[in-house]
Amino acid sequence: MEHEVILEPSGHCLQVREDQCIVEAALEQGVAIHYGCGNGSCGDCKGRIVDGEGVQLPFMPLLLTPGERADNRAILCKLQPRSAMRIEAQVDGAAELWTGTVTTLQQLASTVMELRLRCDRPYPFRAGQYARIAVPDQPGQWRSYSMASHPSAAELVFHIRAVAGGAFSHWLFAQARVGDTLQLGPAQGEFTLQQNEERPLLLVAAGTGLAPIEAIVQERMRLPWTTPVALFFGVRRAADLYHLDDLQNLADSWPNLRLEICCSDPHFTGPGGPRRLLPSVSENGPWSQHEVYLCGSPGMIEAAVDLLLSHGIVHERIHFDSFAPSAG
Ligand SMILES: Cc1cc2nc3c(=O)[nH]c(=O)nc-3n(C[C@H](O)[C@H](O)[C@H](O)COP(=O)(O)OP(=O)(O)OC[C@H]3O[C@@H](n4cnc5c(N)ncnc54)[C@H](O)[C@@H]3O)c2cc1C
Ligand code: FES
Repeated sequence: MEHEVILEPSGHCLQVREDQCIVEAALEQGVAIHYGCGNGSCGDCKGRIVDGEGVQLPFMPLLLTPGERADNRAILCKLQPRSAMRIEAQVDGAAELWTGTVTTLQQLASTVMELRLRCDRPYPFRAGQYARIAVPDQPGQWRSYSMASHPSAAELVFHIRAVAGGAFSHWLFAQARVGDTLQLGPAQGEFTLQQNEERPLLLVAAGTGLAPIEAIVQERMRLPWTTPVALFFGVRRAADLYHLDDLQNLADSWPNLRLEICCSDPHFTGPGGPRRLLPSVSENGPWSQHEVYLCGSPGMIEAAVDLLLSHGIVHERIHFDSFAPSAG
């Protein structure tokens, strides 16, 4: 069964099946609705139900605050209609695209490649945001990657994990060459440093979740703030650790930064020996006064949010970027 869904304020009228979500239907019907991951992990598709009935499928907890839920806000990539609806939703104009030329490909760890791009013109973004990058030779396929670089840098830097059977990561690891070009959409995401109030920071990065955390650290270092910053970087296998020397040099030169490397590999012989990321965070609190930034797999984020709430950190001070598979 299909229902008519009107997007406000753009006025687009969609026909949406009951087994279809709003974002999917909009894209299928050529409407450039604003979205990111497409799978309930990032919150970029947040809208508001003005009228009508819908079913909200599961999405990452904390994307909607209790106040937003009471205000009928909804995650549109996980919302299916059950009647005619009117929905407030952001619809983008013709997407501006940038061309990035590959300047560096450097393997940082067994499964992580650093990709550097020089864009054809300035690429505006805030530290912690991500870009959608077109998969070469696969029209309509885009993948999300966070900038590890600060916006003031001349090149965009990405840390990209090899995913088994992954379209983009396979191209990157097997075929990409310096001089190749890639198309990028505008920067997206709300995973950026809150600057309205100085607070100590707790940064938790798993795997390539380190990318936006590095950008946020650089942003934080530019502020005249003196409160401490604790950075926990975790991986499962020692072979997946990267940037250890850079991070250690940073911690040595910036007394505000406390660095904790957590590798659960039983053979890990580095500082602290084998230990798991979230139990290490838990043991090293209290964190109740901290602003928290989490980045990594959806499972890590969900477990970390539960842990931090149990440590008395309020919902509003927990920010996260979930590296879920990017749809389409
Ligand atoms: C906002 C955002 C920012 C991101 N930033 C980064 C980043 O900086 N660095 C980075 O390495 N990744 C990042 N990711 C994750 C990355 O976009 C996805 O892993 C992407 O799908 C990989 O593309 P691919 O073409 O290599 O694999 P795909 O062709 O998309 O996937 C191949 C198969 O692997 C599965 N898969 C893909 N990714 C994952 C995953 N993360 N977990 C579990 N299964 C998966 C897919 O479902 C599919 O079955 C980010 C994701 C989001 C939403
Ligand atoms: S696009 Fe809907 S939550 Fe990411």
